[in-house]
Amino acid sequence: MSRAQLIAMARKDLEHGRQGTQDQAEGIYKVPVSKYYDPDHFAQEMSQIFHRLPLLMATTAELREVGDYKAMEAVGRQVLITRTKEGVKAFLNMCSHRGARLVHEGCGSAHRFTCPYHAWTFSPSGDLVAVYSADDFGDLDKSEYGLTALPCLEKAGLIWVTLAPDSTLDIEQFLSGYDSLLAEFGFADWHFEKSQRVEGPNWKVAYDGYLDYYHLPILHRETFGTEIGNKANYYSWGPHTHMGRPDASFEEFENLPDEEWPDERVLAGVWTIFPHISIASFFGGGRSVMISQLFPGETPETSHTNQIFLMQREPETEELKREAAKQFQFLEYVVQEEDYATGIALQKNLSIGARDHVLFGKNERGGQYFHQWVDRILETSDEDLPKLFQTG
Ligand code: FES
Ligand SMILES: [Fe+2]
Repeated sequence: MSRAQLIAMARKDLEHGRQGTQDQAEGIYKVPVSKYYDPDHFAQEMSQIFHRLPLLMATTAELREVGDYKAMEAVGRQVLITRTKEGVKAFLNMCSHRGARLVHEGCGSAHRFTCPYHAWTFSPSGDLVAVYSADDFGDLDKSEYGLTALPCLEKAGLIWVTLAPDSTLDIEQFLSGYDSLLAEFGFADWHFEKSQRVEGPNWKVAYDGYLDYYHLPILHRETFGTEIGNKANYYSWGPHTHMGRPDASFEEFENLPDEEWPDERVLAGVWTIFPHISIASFFGGGRSVMISQLFPGETPETSHTNQIFLMQREPETEELKREAAKQFQFLEYVVQEEDYATGIALQKNLSIGARDHVLFGKNERGGQYFHQWVDRILETSDEDLPKLFQTG
């Protein structure tokens, strides 16, 4: 089914490629500039979007074996993700004694987590297994002092976590069927190569760029932009959007059965996952993807992005390793020095009051759709939230 959907999109891209057309919105769309810097609006986005919706926090490849873990901070919350015999679990990275951070940020493997403050010890399933000097401490029902669990789901080789412990929003429902398309990559078997961090502007300024092909031949003309056009086609599942492009070269596969269209062609383009992920394919040193994991900073004007690199196969020779490293360095440069440098300078202009809105053209439908979803989620109560993501 998901394969058929991939081919259907490729056929639409082919048709647009033949006609010289692209997917278009009905009209030009205005976004008030205050939405990019107003502190109250930003606080609302944090509580209603980032602290309420599932976020893609890790990849299967980063914690593949039982006992592996990943600890990270995201939008002010410290998170610990573990792999147990029963599957992936997520917790606040917070000791139940007096709240110390239990595990340093990063990936590793452990069958026990001992708090650096007073050595209380927890299992990867979150149980409190030992209290240091327990007799001196006093009577305590250990079963009531496990780690605080967070909702989490592993699907398509990717791991989502909701940062609100009491969230009842079903993560699979939130994915709106999009995960079955992402599953076509087969990320569960891919190799984690590396990750790196770049600093950016307001999270929506940064994310607008991921949904935008209009700028490619212009802003990226020195690096890669002249090889590709400026037109995009957008395909959405709930708030999540895949971007293809008008592409007459799909013609060569036109008469083949669905299974024979090459994976790397039908999965090309950009796969965004609302509200903060973009996945794009590359080939230096072997087939790879860069998963850009964007997090708002502490102020409306800042964000950072973890660029997570997965490779279909671990590079086997020194030469392939070098080529892969070069590919990833190149992408760090493009995002930091072209996209985010532009975004940071743009951000400064927005807050001075010279203009009250910015524009998204009919050809920038992805950006329009994204901002409409942001607004919709901000306006929706906790109770009504699940209804936004009904599939079908
Ligand atoms: S805060 Fe963790 S053991 Fe005291
Ligand atoms: Fe760009």
